[in-house]
Amino acid sequence: MKIITKLNNLKIETEKTIIKLFQTYHISQIAKICNNPNLSKNLLNMPYPFTIKNAKAWVKNSKKLLKIGNSLSFAIIEKHNNELIGSIALENLNKTHRNAEISYWIDEKNWNKGYATEVLKAVVEFGFKKLNLHRIIGKCYVENIASAKVMEKCGFVFEGTLKEHYFKLDKYKDIKMYAIINKNC
Ligand SMILES: CC(C)(COP(=O)(O)OP(=O)(O)OC[C@H]1O[C@@H](n2cnc3c(N)ncnc32)[C@H](O)[C@@H]1OP(=O)(O)O)[C@@H](O)C(=O)NCCC(=O)NCCS
Repeated sequence: MKIITKLNNLKIETEKTIIKLFQTYHISQIAKICNNPNLSKNLLNMPYPFTIKNAKAWVKNSKKLLKIGNSLSFAIIEKHNNELIGSIALENLNKTHRNAEISYWIDEKNWNKGYATEVLKAVVEFGFKKLNLHRIIGKCYVENIASAKVMEKCGFVFEGTLKEHYFKLDKYKDIKMYAIINKNC
């Protein structure tokens, strides 16, 4: 894994991807990928239908959160064809407690090819080594087996179930809470 940490050019390179901050030119591709109920149903803040307007707001918000030091939202770019295939973010960055929350999505046409696992491992390493985070948490709906599996494959430990923690699609949802701790800092 190669990491470039100059903020404007922040880039993490994995075997099959380049992970870099979202830019305005990603908007149409974000709208195309995210206008999918199979993504939306597993993500708290992703509506369906998902329009260009939503994609513009997504990029604007990620730039705003970057500026105030709250979140780093990365585009996942497939190396071999330079296409956007997903997103991974470190959210709610907390300098006092040195913790953050991970969230991610992958274009459905690329599911089960190992992308989420590859990029999550890289972003955890980046968070621990470059941001000096002590703990990174991840939450998923109990029925989201793929996401739980990705976190487990990356060394996250299941800490428990938060009962009826979120309200989505007219239902209160149980959430599985995972975390990974940095033993070195
Ligand atoms: C969750 C998500 C990011 C996974 O991305 P991905 O690139 O397909 O993940 P990976 O290929 O790295 O790993 C997926 C694993 O889940 C497994 N899996 C997927 N669906 C499964 C199911 N229904 N039952 C059991 N295992 C399943 C795959 O077999 C794979 O495990 P393996 O490598 O041991 O075979 C993707 O499904 C997605 O974007 N979902 C919608 C958004 C979302 O849920 N985001 C996370 C919110 S918490």
